[in-house]
Amino acid sequence: MRYLDLPGGSSIPSLGLGTWRMGEAAGHRKAEVSAVRAAIDMGYRLIDTAEMYGEGGAEELVGQAVADAIRAGDVRREDLFIVSKVYPHNASRKGTSAACARSLARLGLDRIDLYLLHWRGEHPLAETCDALRTLAAQGRIRHWGVSNFDTDDMEELADAGGDAADCAVNQVYFSAGERGAEFSLLPWLRKRGMPMMAYSPIDQGSLATDAGLLKIAQRLDVTAAQVALAWVLSRPTVVAIPKAVREAHLRENLAAADLELSAADLAEIDSLHPPPRRKSPLAMI
Ligand SMILES: NC(=O)c1ccc[n+]([C@@H]2O[C@H](COP(=O)([O-])OP(=O)(O)OC[C@H]3O[C@@H](n4cnc5c(N)ncnc54)[C@H](OP(=O)(O)O)[C@@H]3O)[C@@H](O)[C@H]2O)c1
Repeated sequence: MRYLDLPGGSSIPSLGLGTWRMGEAAGHRKAEVSAVRAAIDMGYRLIDTAEMYGEGGAEELVGQAVADAIRAGDVRREDLFIVSKVYPHNASRKGTSAACARSLARLGLDRIDLYLLHWRGEHPLAETCDALRTLAAQGRIRHWGVSNFDTDDMEELADAGGDAADCAVNQVYFSAGERGAEFSLLPWLRKRGMPMMAYSPIDQGSLATDAGLLKIAQRLDVTAAQVALAWVLSRPTVVAIPKAVREAHLRENLAAADLELSAADLAEIDSLHPPPRRKSPLAMI
C-alpha cells in the first residue's frame, strides 16, 4: 500500500473504504458493522463517511466498528484515518462547529482526521473555510478539505480562503469511466501537492462488469473491479475509496492497491475509455 503526502505534513493510504448507502436500514446494520470491522482487520486504515450517509447512521456504525477494533487491540486510533463531511446547508460558522460535534459524538471520537465540505452550498466559502480552520486549531479535526469542487471552485477557494494551501484534499467523482477531472482539475491539484480522493472508483459497481476491463482482468488473472481500482491508483496523487460490504469485495479491493498495470494495459484502457480532450463540468453522483 502506497502512502500519499498531504499538504502540511502527514500522509494517507492510497486506498480506503467508502460507506455511502451504509447506515440506512436497521436490518443491514449488523452486516455493515461487521464489514467495517473486517476491513480494519484486513488492513484498511482510511475510512470515508459523512453526516449525510444514513443521516448519521453510517458514522454511528463506523464508530462502533472502530471502537470494537481498538478495544480488541487490533488497531491503534492513531493508525486510522477517519474522513467525514459536513452538509453544505450546515456549513456556516456556527453550523460547521455544531455538525462536527454531532459527527464526533456519533463516531465516538475526539478528533476527525479529515473533515470535508461535502459540496458547495449557500454559505460563503470564506466563512466555511474559517470555521474549518477553527476546528483544526481547536484540535477537533486534523485536516480540512473540500469535495465536488471543480477547478474554478478551487480557484475561488484560493481567493476566498487565504490561498487554500492548507486545504488537504478535494474528493471528486473519478473512475476509468468518468475521467473528466483529469483534464484540468487533477493537474491543478497536483501542482499544489494536494491529493485528489476518487469517489465511486468502480462507478458504483458497474465497472466490475465492463466488457473491456473484463478482458484485461482475465489476462492478468484478477477481476475487472481490481483493474478499475488499479487504473485510478496508477495516478500518483489519487486516493481511491471504494465502498464494499461483501467480504470478497473488501479483500479484492484491498489487493488492488498492489496491482500495477503495464503501459500496454493503460493504453488499452485509454482506447476503451478515452481521456478527456476538453474541459467539461465536473461530474457528480
Ligand atoms: N463526496 C461525494 O459527494 C461522494 C459521492 C459518492 C461517493 N462518495 C464516497 O465514495 C465511496 C465510494 O463510492 P460509491 O459507493 O458511490 O461507489 P463504488 O465504490 O464505485 O461502488 C460501490 C458498489 O460496488 C460494489 N463493489 C465493491 N467492490 C466490488 C468488487 N470488487 N466487485 C464488484 N462489485 C464491487 C459494492 O457492492 P457491496 O457493497 O455489495 O460489496 C457497491 O455496490 C462512497 O461509499 C462514499 O464514501 C462520496
